[in-house]
Amino acid sequence: MNDSDRLRKYYAERAPEYEQIYFRDVPERRRELADETVRLQKIARERNVLDIACGTGYWTSRMSQTARSIIAADISPEMLAEARAKEYHCPIDFVRCDLNRLPFAENSFDLITLGFWFSHQPRQSYEALFDSLIPLLTDTGLIWMIDNNPPAEGPDHESSGTDSQGNNLKKRRLDNGMEYIILKNYFVEDELRAIFSPRFHLKRLTYGDCYWSALLTIRQ
Ligand SMILES: C[S@@+](CC[C@H](N)C(=O)[O-])C[C@H]1O[C@@H](n2cnc3c(N)ncnc32)[C@H](O)[C@@H]1O
Repeated sequence: MNDSDRLRKYYAERAPEYEQIYFRDVPERRRELADETVRLQKIARERNVLDIACGTGYWTSRMSQTARSIIAADISPEMLAEARAKEYHCPIDFVRCDLNRLPFAENSFDLITLGFWFSHQPRQSYEALFDSLIPLLTDTGLIWMIDNNPPAEGPDHESSGTDSQGNNLKKRRLDNGMEYIILKNYFVEDELRAIFSPRFHLKRLTYGDCYWSALLTIRQ
């Protein structure tokens, strides 16, 4: 099984328990997530959104409070089933697809969102990801991302090494005891600036204690 298939299988199995990450009893995490929700709802206002790797629809449902329309896309039927069970406040379509082969027309969206995806994108394929996203956006289109900062301590801190391309590998355990080693990269603030700056203007980069989030526009 390659890295991508392992990640897909891991998330398919994790779907019913995935949202635990959002409801941990850690005030700092809750505060940063609440602040980001407010920011994202402003960003999404009246926009046609593509939510890539939407998972259980945590951010999708929150954006639906203000967005004009949303396409929520994920490779996992299990994740999409969780997402479909939520309530939405704007027109929404769910699409099962691989983000490496996005089946959408050019200039279709004025906001593309990737929640907790970028850490799973292999370092060697950032340009391929950017090349696939940019044509889908309108001229004034935005890209929003959120992801984890390096864990400070505890079992989450441990790495299972790196692969030949320098990607961090991490052991994850599901509630049923199954273990997976998945690709999960962490970034310091300057690294994020260096990755995004050649192709995008960084309208905002928020680097908190627990999460980073970025709002990007295309460099013309
Ligand atoms: C960390 S979860 C993020 C879910 C959601 N965006 C959030 O922020 O809560 C990663 C998601 O990526 C999806 N995924 C994994 N590989 C994918 C691929 N190749 N194409 C599209 N989605 C993929 C998984 O099914 C999972 O739902």
